[in-house]
Amino acid sequence: MRCVLGVLATLCALFLILSDAVDPSNFKTCDQSSFCRRSRKVQSSGSKYALIPGTLNTYADSLTADLVNKENHHQFAFKLEALVGSSFRLQIDEKQPLKPRYRVEHALKGQPQTGRIRVQRETDGEIVITSEGNKAVIHGDPFRVDFYENDVLVVSVNAKNWLYFEHLRQKSQEPPAAQAEHENQQEQDAAVETPKAADAIDDPGAWEENFKSHHDAKPYGPEAVALDFSFPAAEILFGIPEHADSFVLKSTSGTDPYRLYNLDVFEYIVDSKMALYGSVPVIYGHGPQRTAGVYWQNAAETWVDIQTAETNVVSSLVNFVSGSRKSPPPAAHFMSESGIVDAFILLGPKPLDAFKQYAALTGTHELPQLFSLAYHQSRWNYNDERDVTSVSAKFDEFNIPMDTMWLDIEYTDGKRYFTWDKFKFPQPLTMIKNLTELGRHLVVIIDPHIKRDNGYFFHNDCTERGYYVKTRDGNDYEGWCWPGAASYPDFFNPVVRDYYASQYALDKFQTVTSDVMLWNDMNEPSVFNGPEITAPKDLIHYGNWEHRDVHNLYGHMHLMGSFAGLQQRDPNQRPFILTRAHFAGSQRYAAIWTGDNLADWSHLQHSIKMCLTEATAGFSFCGADVGGFFGNPDAELLERWYQTGIFLPFFRAHAHIDTKRREPWLFPERTRLVIQNAVLKRYSYLPLWYTAFYELEQTGEPVIRPLLAHYPLDKEGFAIDNQLLVQDRLLVRPVMQQGVSKVDVYFPAVDDKKNGDLWYDVDTYQRQEKSGYVSVSVDEYKIPVWQRGGSILPKKERQRRASTLMINDPYTLIICLDRQGKASGSLYLDDEKSYAYRQGQFIHVNYEFANGQLVNRFIGKPKYKSDAWIERIVIAGLERVPSGAGITVNGVTQQLEVLPHEGHVVVRKPGVKMDVDFALKLNY
Ligand SMILES: *[C@@H]1O[C@H](CO)[C@@H](O)[C@H](O)[C@H]1NC(C)=O
Repeated sequence: MRCVLGVLATLCALFLILSDAVDPSNFKTCDQSSFCRRSRKVQSSGSKYALIPGTLNTYADSLTADLVNKENHHQFAFKLEALVGSSFRLQIDEKQPLKPRYRVEHALKGQPQTGRIRVQRETDGEIVITSEGNKAVIHGDPFRVDFYENDVLVVSVNAKNWLYFEHLRQKSQEPPAAQAEHENQQEQDAAVETPKAADAIDDPGAWEENFKSHHDAKPYGPEAVALDFSFPAAEILFGIPEHADSFVLKSTSGTDPYRLYNLDVFEYIVDSKMALYGSVPVIYGHGPQRTAGVYWQNAAETWVDIQTAETNVVSSLVNFVSGSRKSPPPAAHFMSESGIVDAFILLGPKPLDAFKQYAALTGTHELPQLFSLAYHQSRWNYNDERDVTSVSAKFDEFNIPMDTMWLDIEYTDGKRYFTWDKFKFPQPLTMIKNLTELGRHLVVIIDPHIKRDNGYFFHNDCTERGYYVKTRDGNDYEGWCWPGAASYPDFFNPVVRDYYASQYALDKFQTVTSDVMLWNDMNEPSVFNGPEITAPKDLIHYGNWEHRDVHNLYGHMHLMGSFAGLQQRDPNQRPFILTRAHFAGSQRYAAIWTGDNLADWSHLQHSIKMCLTEATAGFSFCGADVGGFFGNPDAELLERWYQTGIFLPFFRAHAHIDTKRREPWLFPERTRLVIQNAVLKRYSYLPLWYTAFYELEQTGEPVIRPLLAHYPLDKEGFAIDNQLLVQDRLLVRPVMQQGVSKVDVYFPAVDDKKNGDLWYDVDTYQRQEKSGYVSVSVDEYKIPVWQRGGSILPKKERQRRASTLMINDPYTLIICLDRQGKASGSLYLDDEKSYAYRQGQFIHVNYEFANGQLVNRFIGKPKYKSDAWIERIVIAGLERVPSGAGITVNGVTQQLEVLPHEGHVVVRKPGVKMDVDFALKLNY
């Protein structure tokens, strides 16, 4: 939306009905962006960069050399560094820039640890750098760097000679050319351009640029950087969220490139390469033998051209014969408006290795409080205290668990954050207490735009202290957002972040408690009257950087302030923050959702595609507005959306202010029961989600995963993005089409002979034994989900109103056996709230089943004292039904009852505490 003005509500509603989607003409195409035009043009002419002989310097962990552009003789500093864990870092900057060029800060979780290198010069002029059994081979002229994982070429940098680096220059050196004429020629006949024409001098947008009514002063002129990366061992590329597109990246030949530029795009188009709210410039190439990645660390507007192996991915996969590639390998061409070339090469070799290498650089979400993995109930807006209390009570009345109520912008006093509307919310602390006494939480929205009102303390502080982002002539920038006239704190300034963080302290923000968590929206930043609904690029930030240089980091810096605020407010509670804008590394501070989607089936389908991509880019904690933000879902869509939403890590229903109320009890009984059934299922799996998030923090392995993460050889599975894995334990294929009684489910192959795992339907324990497509019947309650044979997972099956009340509830272990009659799986538990787990106050245990016996093995010493115990053990896949089971604890054996059921048996009441060693043996 944004239907901004109340008086225009009717017009707005009309607009919502008439338009299916955003108007793309509000946003730039590559052709309307001068640096994208220029950088892309190199694809037809190539460039000429070479190492300068005699400039090589080698160090223990890196080497440096000078590069020259052979056309204009400008010189660049090249650095290649080895990092521990099979990664390299490659940087190119100007040797002597007119002024420093921006280098991204705060995205990495710390200084990457470098690894030792060995350097060898070959007779043909190549330079070979080895580190950890991997190598980089530098070719001097034309400049190219090839990266080998264990002797297999996985990433080739500048193999296409599309390196393009616009050095900073004085404007007077660059007399404007006959521009109109040139632009025509450029459009009509790009192919015959000479290489020289790629130079920025001739481009009419080089020194100033207009888009619609907006002017960009561009005082520093052209300063783009671009580079190509080929993935010779890959067949498909994925990554570079956020786009509402398929998991596998599509060719951009004949279309615009994928765009990375944080924007407030309402009712976004699906199957689109348009930019959205977040930008994470990491890409992966995957083939059966190797997965490799590239993290392009640049926070400026970025476009990425994708060359696929062949136009038709599926046929190329079928025809592909290893080692005899018929077409060039897939490649990505990153083009950024400013900054430097700073690329991290992640060598894999397996998908999870590459994801972990990326996590080693940019971090992971820390273990969230358990309640934040449970169900969130939101709407723009819950109108007043009565509304909040009554919605909460209705969930109890209808026995639907719910953990968190959300308040959107209308709770504030006129969109002044850190205040309340005193008429609608006269007693916020009582309202909050009412929720927390039920075990529930409250989340409130706090956006970065600040109302320009000299009766508002926050605005006065920012004005007096100079905390706002500035225009190029040094005034406070003023835009238009929810509060009307607004300014934007410059979170790049550490003093501003400290000030912002201090506002969350309970002696400042007295009308909340430390159980109230946070939603940071509109932080792209959204500026209703700005170019492309965001901030102008020639604004000035702390350190004298232009907004152009740092745009995609603005939301990230906002999050740093917010996260610090919540941590300082209560150092022993893990913060929960939801953000819309994000960049590489923002996963350390916040969960994300896919923004202002639409109540239609295609947006439901894209929720999975988008979150799968985000999960490979560090953002496991991802979800979509259940029901769709805009529009009114019918009963069937809402049911299916809940059923899908419970298998994404962040699970929240949310709706636009102009939509009809859609709490579950407002629908016919059947819909309410289907939703209740789905939400209860989510709650029963909370121990699995919680364990998966702990293991994400420990290892960097995503919580949800594409099939290829565990079935890297199965080419048919590469592009499947209507299914997902939860760790390697569940295979989820939600129903996401209208009116179907069957869905086709793909069971992946473990090898190239099409052998598959065993899979057990989680409702019926019916087995799937073969790989390939299977048509599965679904009624309105059915959520097609299978547990992998060979896995064990924890559940809790008692029904409560909120997850916080389940802490001492007993566990059920579900054991699904593989063909050898074996299974294993982990469980993690702690106090679900504090940082005590960082001091070892947790229980992390691995369960192993083999030869009819289940044992536990603690990972680390189990220090946390839990009152929970194991209530039930379900075993599926046994050849015979046992007569009973004996459980041995501390040398004492007790006999247990084993009850046979369809497809599984249930071992009743093992009764063992979570921190106690035991062995359970089936008797026959
Ligand atoms: C708190 O709960 C009580 C009891 O249900 C109710 O009467 C009261 O209105 C609630 N107060 C607020 C501020 O929500």
